[in-house]
Amino acid sequence: MKTKINLFFLFIVTFCQIQGQTIRITTSETDLVMAVAPNGRLYQAYLGSRLLNEADIQHLSPFLSQAASDAAVTVRGWEVYPGSGGEDYFEPAFIVQHADGNMTSILTYESHTQKKIDENVIETIIILKDKEYPLKVKLCFRSFDRENTIQTWSEIEHTGTTPVLLSQYASSMIYFQEQDYFLTEYSGDWAKEVQISTQQLQFGKKVIDTKLGSRAAMHTYPFFQVGLGTPAGEQTGKVLLGTIAWTGNFRFTFEVDNVGNLRVISGINPYASYYELKGGETFVTPEFIYTLSEEGTGKASRNLHDWARNYQLKDGKGDRLTLLNNWESTGFNFDEKILGELMKEAKELGVDMFLLDDGWFANTYPRANDRAGLGDWEVTHSKLPNGIPGLVQAANKAGVKFGIWIEPEMVNPKSELFEQHPEWVIMQPNRETYYYRHQLVLDLSNPEVQNYVYGVVEQIMQENPGVAYFKWDCNSPITNIYSPYLKEKQNHLYIEHVRGVQNVFRRVKENYPDLPMMLCSGGGARCDYEALKYFTEFWCSDNTDPVERLYIQWGYSRFFPVKSMAAHVTSWNKAASVKFRTDVAMMCKFGFDISIKELTKEEQQFCKEAVANYNRLKKVILDGDFYRLVSPYETNHTAVLHVSKTREKAILYTYDIYPRFGEKMLPVKLEGLDPAKMYEVKEINQMPGRKSGLKANGKIMSGDYLMKVGLEAFTTSRMNSRLIELTAVN
Ligand code: DGJ
Repeated sequence: MKTKINLFFLFIVTFCQIQGQTIRITTSETDLVMAVAPNGRLYQAYLGSRLLNEADIQHLSPFLSQAASDAAVTVRGWEVYPGSGGEDYFEPAFIVQHADGNMTSILTYESHTQKKIDENVIETIIILKDKEYPLKVKLCFRSFDRENTIQTWSEIEHTGTTPVLLSQYASSMIYFQEQDYFLTEYSGDWAKEVQISTQQLQFGKKVIDTKLGSRAAMHTYPFFQVGLGTPAGEQTGKVLLGTIAWTGNFRFTFEVDNVGNLRVISGINPYASYYELKGGETFVTPEFIYTLSEEGTGKASRNLHDWARNYQLKDGKGDRLTLLNNWESTGFNFDEKILGELMKEAKELGVDMFLLDDGWFANTYPRANDRAGLGDWEVTHSKLPNGIPGLVQAANKAGVKFGIWIEPEMVNPKSELFEQHPEWVIMQPNRETYYYRHQLVLDLSNPEVQNYVYGVVEQIMQENPGVAYFKWDCNSPITNIYSPYLKEKQNHLYIEHVRGVQNVFRRVKENYPDLPMMLCSGGGARCDYEALKYFTEFWCSDNTDPVERLYIQWGYSRFFPVKSMAAHVTSWNKAASVKFRTDVAMMCKFGFDISIKELTKEEQQFCKEAVANYNRLKKVILDGDFYRLVSPYETNHTAVLHVSKTREKAILYTYDIYPRFGEKMLPVKLEGLDPAKMYEVKEINQMPGRKSGLKANGKIMSGDYLMKVGLEAFTTSRMNSRLIELTAVN
């Protein structure tokens, strides 16, 4: 076995024959073929469904032979990583101003290597160089066979001595040739994350970008979907799902050119960020991750879910803790007694952990509200006289673990930290300060500040090794953009700040690899696959109204496995029953943020049973295949399904949102089951003493029937929900 593994790592093939060279990047279902044209440049020859016959690859070359006769004129577009100033009159992947002021870069193929990382992953590195200038570009790809996912990034290396200026630096550029293109974007704001809308792309550019600095998202999200040919459905249509792994300003450009081809350019948003590259330096772009599906978005999402759990998400294959959080029930108003009560409630509910939120720190300027204290990460003695050790002890005594909230990248001007280190803060030296939630962002481009931010976690952990979980918040975008540290290099701030944040995240993970952590950003404004390398889950939204959450969770689930999506039962939308609120949260990584004292005895009993059900079914929910069956965007209902990888167990969730009188009510057709297996159908998660109204309850039905005919599970009642467990009996 050992020799086999070593062989994988030794399997490196290097190519440097120039003309006619093709480079094929393959997954179980996709082929990306690039070829070197007679002009020495690298073009995308194909991107689509996997080609079954190796020999057919050669037929792709006639497309490229256009380049043979008159390359400079006829081949426009399709170049894998075009610079500015060439014969392609559309958006380039990168722009460099060379030391002599010249703005043109033309890259030619130098060599490439392909290496097996393991039996499922191949890494391809292509080296391109400019013959006239000291510039090399490495195009890097990792292809994940089973997950049908490609991860790609670029490295721009300045091999000369005099500095050059980069004003664009995409991670990736890919092309499509289809009749029509339908772009789905995910826009939003605080408490209305990932609202889905689709538009047809026409000639010209559509840009999706953000300029928030400290996070990728809020008004729009770092992921997109393109229906190729037709708008993509859940089970039908050719579709591209793409996402950029960058915790800062990002940009996607979708450009339809003069002949109707589409180019998709993904990367850091170069807004106010022209980057000086000194001799010998390399600019590494973030990863762009994408998958193609011929069978709609459902399949594409499952590709990304598997890829994320297997390769990207912190502890992607591990378990997750259920919890009780105190933010919604106490806000900043708590003391040891109140927390102690909540810890006991957590135990009563049966969850694994109590999570203490904002408001536990600072003494000179105590964190009694959001106007003071950020930066002073010492427990407020008057509020919590026994400190964190006392809280950990109390939680453990109650029989639950203890987790804690921090927001270490931020500072309130009313804090000792701000008084001691104003030079650590991103802030204009000569203008009035603008505050977002009364706070400012620390300058993470400064390594000293990175140490300080890392130290916040380290200090808590060293003093309290019993702390079992962190919720890491980031409530402000960067405001008053000026770094005292970078001085005349302000144009590097957006990039160096994010790199600094990444350094801290990386260090925390290196030192605390088993510590589960929730990524949070004033709701769901941090949800990118770079940050998720270091976090086990993210907070989807402060909006926990279960109706709104159905839309929000639907949207995120296009790109993220439910295992990474934290969802809590709260008091938002009291018109919805506790059961409905619970059934919505149980679709994801489950928790509570409510005092059970607000609940009736019957509701409390229900919640305890729900936690027990969740624990029993956790493996299926968190590690199974996720199917979106009925969309809240298209009907007055929603249905989703988790199916275990073995197809032995499935859990169907049905929700009636606002059904109309006399509306057409269709059975819910399941997916992903084994047609040959017989399944016992059982409604679970019911209020105590309530009988199931589900016609099929207790029956045994084949997977075939359940997928072709389905279950009559929807009702005409408002905000009604059902959880239905299906267990294979043969
Ligand atoms: C914003 C988060 O989204 C909330 O869950 C909560 O942690 C607050 N910040 C605390 O200030």
